[in-house]
Amino acid sequence: MAEPITAPSAEPAFDIAEFRRALGAFVTGVTVVTTIQPDGSPRGFTANSFTSVSLDPPLILVCIAKTAASYAVFSDARRFAVSVLAEDQKNVSGVFASKAADKFAQVPWSTRKTGAPVMDGAAASFDCTTHEVVDAGDHIILIGRVVDFVQTSSSPLGYCRGAYVNFSLSQDALAAAGARAKVGAILEHRDGLVLVDTGKGLGLPTGIKLDPASDPASLHGVLAKLGLQVHLDFLFAVFEDGSGKEAGVHIYYRGRVIPNSSPWLDSSVRIVPLSQIPWDEVSDAAVRSMLERYERERRQDAFGIYVGDSEAGTVQPLGIAH
Ligand SMILES: Cc1cc2nc3c(=O)[nH]c(=O)nc-3n(C[C@H](O)[C@H](O)[C@H](O)COP(=O)(O)O)c2cc1C
Repeated sequence: MAEPITAPSAEPAFDIAEFRRALGAFVTGVTVVTTIQPDGSPRGFTANSFTSVSLDPPLILVCIAKTAASYAVFSDARRFAVSVLAEDQKNVSGVFASKAADKFAQVPWSTRKTGAPVMDGAAASFDCTTHEVVDAGDHIILIGRVVDFVQTSSSPLGYCRGAYVNFSLSQDALAAAGARAKVGAILEHRDGLVLVDTGKGLGLPTGIKLDPASDPASLHGVLAKLGLQVHLDFLFAVFEDGSGKEAGVHIYYRGRVIPNSSPWLDSSVRIVPLSQIPWDEVSDAAVRSMLERYERERRQDAFGIYVGDSEAGTVQPLGIAH
């Protein structure tokens, strides 16, 4: 099947960018969808549109954009595999979301029953024959019949609102609860990031614990004092800093300022466009490293429906990838 790219039939009734943001609220995993081309070479791309469909018969689906370079190959493929990436495979997601010609030279893979490539180290994988290809707007829905699968106990990589999510971070944060902690937030406000002028340069809002807002030393207390009402969506990073007087466990969330919730902001608050972070004013190396990773992941989101990137910054992990 090789459908032409469908031209939009009419002006959309709503803002497409807002529509995409709304879709981004749905938390997914990240997969790599692969096949073998007629000339015998492997082909693949990153997809978070994977869904389980049926147990009997065992069916799964994935949606492919008609603008993808590999669209024609997959629309005609008789077999394909879906690898559900593990938490330490952000780099694999990045490689397969790219236009690199040698994607398969950069990651270890093998084959199972159908001959379609399966990523080594994936949290799970499904080897499929093509059950049906359905035309759906600017995508096709590739429905696969599962003929073989692998299941492991690895923690899967998550994805939400245009950024990767590490579910295991929550456990590490809980484990660190007794330790001396610094709890901070990377917050988006309209199209910018919330930075705070600490007097010694720009930093992120932080407290010594998360709650309650009535405690001025907690993160929510600090945010209330700055005039910020926020949603904290996910943990973004957990790391240990063994140096200086702030040695201890650092826990950073990412979130958003609730629209129209802040009639005033403290004069120390600076809202900085993501593309214009004044790096030389951010004095803390760990904060700079986190912001670099955040900016990189968000920047990639601007280029497509989906986002991706590899790895974290240079902060010291608590024995975990983040
Ligand atoms: C997390 C993530 C999820 C993605 N999900 C999809 C998807 O479900 N369908 C799709 O067509 N592209 C998706 N993409 C984009 C493709 O991976 C990207 O366009 C890639 O370049 C396609 O490869 P190709 O151009 O070699 O075909 C996703 C990218 C990322 C980073």
